[in-house]
Amino acid sequence: MQSTFPPQRVDIDLGDRSYPIWVGTALIDNPEILAGIPKGSAAMVVTNATVQPLYAQELLHCLRGLYRQVHLVTLPDGEEFKTWQTLNLIFDALLTKQCDRKTVLFALGGGVVGDMTGFAAASYMRGVPFVQVPTTLLSQVDSSVGGKTGINHPLGKNMVGAFYQPHLVLCDLKTLSTLPSRELSAGLAEVIKYGPIADLAFLGWIEANIDALIKRDVTTLTHAVKRSCEIKAWVVSQDERESGVRAILNFGHTFGHAIEAGMGYGNWLHGEAVGCGMVMAARLSLALGMMDAAYLERLTRLIAKAGLPVIAPILDKDDNAGRYLELMRVDKKAEAGEIRFVVIDGKGNATLQTAPDALVRQVIAESCV
Ligand code: NAD
Ligand code: GLY
Repeated sequence: MQSTFPPQRVDIDLGDRSYPIWVGTALIDNPEILAGIPKGSAAMVVTNATVQPLYAQELLHCLRGLYRQVHLVTLPDGEEFKTWQTLNLIFDALLTKQCDRKTVLFALGGGVVGDMTGFAAASYMRGVPFVQVPTTLLSQVDSSVGGKTGINHPLGKNMVGAFYQPHLVLCDLKTLSTLPSRELSAGLAEVIKYGPIADLAFLGWIEANIDALIKRDVTTLTHAVKRSCEIKAWVVSQDERESGVRAILNFGHTFGHAIEAGMGYGNWLHGEAVGCGMVMAARLSLALGMMDAAYLERLTRLIAKAGLPVIAPILDKDDNAGRYLELMRVDKKAEAGEIRFVVIDGKGNATLQTAPDALVRQVIAESCV
């Protein structure tokens, strides 16, 4: 993979919890970036069994020059391990190594490792600093930024967690060279998401560059990651704890979370479910009269071109729409059992809206064929 230099910086403005997101290659060799890593008595790198052999040694080597003690904990890999039991492995390691509250956690991996490490950092000794080192496209453009941390519950995705911001995010694009194609596509779902909700020009740019993105051209990926982080930083800076506008980042996620939970975590990738969920949410926007059919076709074509599913799965052969509705009622945006969907207007704006069950049932039926 060719290199980009100098690294690009995006700032997320959250008062005394502000931090930079760095996008580039060879980030941990850069003195300016190294200087921003929180100081402490010890570091613990949290990773998983897939990422550890690929990237842990390089990070551990660098951290040994910064901390007196450097530890490593390796979790099992998979969305199905985003649980209390796995989270406890991090606490077991921290306590076994007698880590104090000046210990800095480093999340080295995708969104699953990042969300769990962030939650561990939020709760270990009531809060220790942490750094996100995201190694999937999805985690670089979305999950490592903005401070949502947590784990899944069998009855709902990401239902237990905390808002807790990292001190730094290091998006090293060279890690994407080893990412399986299916995971790259899953990340593209979250990149595409930013177009319809906030920036139609970016949507056009993605359409024009989708082949280069799939081929992992570093210059093209750099722009995609940087622009995605800028949009996310802009939204999160306005509404850190999702009392309003931040909910637009969940475009496609209400349907998507139902697909993930309904299919069993780990069967559909999060990004795949979001990709298909965006088609469903766009179809609902069309049914609500907010946008036209040509825009639905345009989005569907791009999502398919990114290698993502655009036909929704059947979750229950007897009452499919009923099962979707049941799963969507535990969505975090639901209020008093009423589901609120992120819908789009075709002009780069998104809002939250309720919809009659009958209309949602019709959209689900149309989406499954
Ligand atoms: P993931 O963490 O499961 O990673 C995907 C797969 O790629 C895993 O098998 C992982 O081991 C492997 N992998 C990671 N980096 C690799 C690399 N460089 N080379 C080869 N393999 C690599 O999944 P994800 O898509 O990164 O993240 C999905 C998770 O993120 C979900 O749990 C989702 O809920 C969460 N999420 C959180 C937020 C948030 O704001 N906190 C936002 C979006 C998604
Ligand atoms: N991924 C949605 C959010 O961070 O709010």
